[in-house]
Amino acid sequence: MCGIIGYVGNKEIIPILLEGLHSLEYRGYDSSGIAIHEGNSLNVVKAAGKLNCLEEILKNNGTKNGKNGHVNCGVGHTRWATHGEASDINAHPHFDRDEKIAVVHNGIIRNYQEVRENLLKAGVHFVSETDTEVIVQLISYNFKNSKSLLHAICTSVNELDGSFALGILFKQEPDKIYAVRKESPIIIGMGENENYLASDSATLSLFVNKIIRLGDNEIAEITKDKVKLYSFKGEEIKKSPQTVTKSNDFLDKKGFKHHLIKEISEQADVISNLLSNHLSATSKDKSARVKLDYINLNPDLLKNIDRILILACGTAYHAGLIGKFVLENLTGIPTEVQFASEFLNTKSLLTKKSLVIGISQSGETADTLSAVKKAKDTGTTFVAITNNPHSELANLAKDHLLISKAGIEVSVAATKTFTAQITMLYLLAIYIAETIGSKKEKSLDLLKQELRLLPQLIDQTILRAEQYQEQVLKYADKPDFVFIGRGINYPIALEAALKLKELSYIHASGYASGEMKHGPIAVLDPKVPVVSIVVPGETYDRVLQNSMEAKSRHAPMIAVAVDGDKKADSIFDTVLHIPPVIEIASPFLTVIPLQFLAYYIAEHLERDIDQPRNLAKSVTVE
Ligand code: F6R
Repeated sequence: MCGIIGYVGNKEIIPILLEGLHSLEYRGYDSSGIAIHEGNSLNVVKAAGKLNCLEEILKNNGTKNGKNGHVNCGVGHTRWATHGEASDINAHPHFDRDEKIAVVHNGIIRNYQEVRENLLKAGVHFVSETDTEVIVQLISYNFKNSKSLLHAICTSVNELDGSFALGILFKQEPDKIYAVRKESPIIIGMGENENYLASDSATLSLFVNKIIRLGDNEIAEITKDKVKLYSFKGEEIKKSPQTVTKSNDFLDKKGFKHHLIKEISEQADVISNLLSNHLSATSKDKSARVKLDYINLNPDLLKNIDRILILACGTAYHAGLIGKFVLENLTGIPTEVQFASEFLNTKSLLTKKSLVIGISQSGETADTLSAVKKAKDTGTTFVAITNNPHSELANLAKDHLLISKAGIEVSVAATKTFTAQITMLYLLAIYIAETIGSKKEKSLDLLKQELRLLPQLIDQTILRAEQYQEQVLKYADKPDFVFIGRGINYPIALEAALKLKELSYIHASGYASGEMKHGPIAVLDPKVPVVSIVVPGETYDRVLQNSMEAKSRHAPMIAVAVDGDKKADSIFDTVLHIPPVIEIASPFLTVIPLQFLAYYIAEHLERDIDQPRNLAKSVTVE
């Protein structure tokens, strides 16, 4: 989704804004632009397309970098189109009529039509189709009756309904950026005699190690050596900065062709780190319970929990489905998983005895935040799993926070953060089971032992990448794929279909394998490969049986199966082998060849792997 960067300080400004915009590219965008103070005016340059289009214009039109040693001030933006196509005109920043105020925006203005109509009646002229333009025109309109721009901003934001993070420049205040937050994330980075503004802390970590998260309904006035915070009523607020680790290498592909393949390859290390942080090295130490540092769940409270609800979107939702399986299996507590955007319906079912788990890689997904806030209002206990400790979700979780520590995921499609999320869910399930005594110590020890083996098994699976590549490319011309799995591998079928769609734009569906014969089987023919996840265990025979039904309809047959599975070798046209693994731990391995399948087919089709069309990494609108 849209990304915002801002800078005020003595350094040359354009290289900083461009570096910031490049670091925000992973969020997904289709146009970009900057606004800087130049001489006595505000200079706006913007372009549809990728950042190189903006860079080309900046090179050719003589926009100054801003002199070293002078106060330079400006904002930049990557736009993911919502209202109006991706065009030069709709790109941000947007000006008011007098070109005195420039605004960049991430989010959505729900009442923009109403505001626009009122402004049109008052004689305001609009040039773009965006909801953003109403913000700048409204501030400009209200400024006529205001004692300051801050006052005009306060009046205007109170008239707007929606979610918005804003960066605002004002011609008459050439050394100042205003930032506004309502729901959508925006963070201030604090340096020595310079300050920054960005949509995420990863971008700020390129420049500084101190940040201030703007809270909901807050405004910041940022100059090079001061940050003042205000409420939407204009009252001053005090906040202390948080520390972040300065990091300038997360955009480095480290020799890999794409971030995605790098991130797939990092999964063994990610899981190994998480396990060693939370699980002792051996089961011999009987006191070695799972340790979850930022979880402060009282054992009496846990013993009373009668229902768990997991709220998440997309890949995080699939992780939640695996979590349901493991939580129910280990704790016996009925667990439900809901798309965060569908949560409206079950709010009334939550009580003080419920436990709600919100899962979000970014911690900024608007649907998830909105559902979690509603759930929290019921007084339920809330645990968050996120990869972003500086996110709003982490902020909402306070005492009950699980950080998935997968490192920054740059590719839009989630891979390593998915396996990190499921790791945290397994650890949470064991933690609850150990606290409430729902499962025998011996069987928990056996599971922990299996988990400890995972990093090595994942490594062995990743080493088979080339073999998978050769096996899957013969299916790259197929227009449709069906993925099937059962039990704990049904969510992997859903996740594999999502990955293939996102990366290759090939249509794909995931089904619980038993459901195939209830309808989806109608689509099968020799052009539609069926990919079955068949791991030894309770579901094995049934998935094989369902696969045979597909084979009888002449669908090309692919399986993910363990080494030495002779039955699978004889039934399927192609078997993507994984090392032997027990069923309950199998999703960590079965997902990997399917991530590779999506990657290699997409690469063969020359897709934009790290930034697939129409997608955004951090979906900050509902
Ligand atoms: C899929 C993907 C999305 C996200 C979803 C939720 O590859 O990345 O489906 O999983 O948008 O995002 P988070 O986890 O940030 O809430």
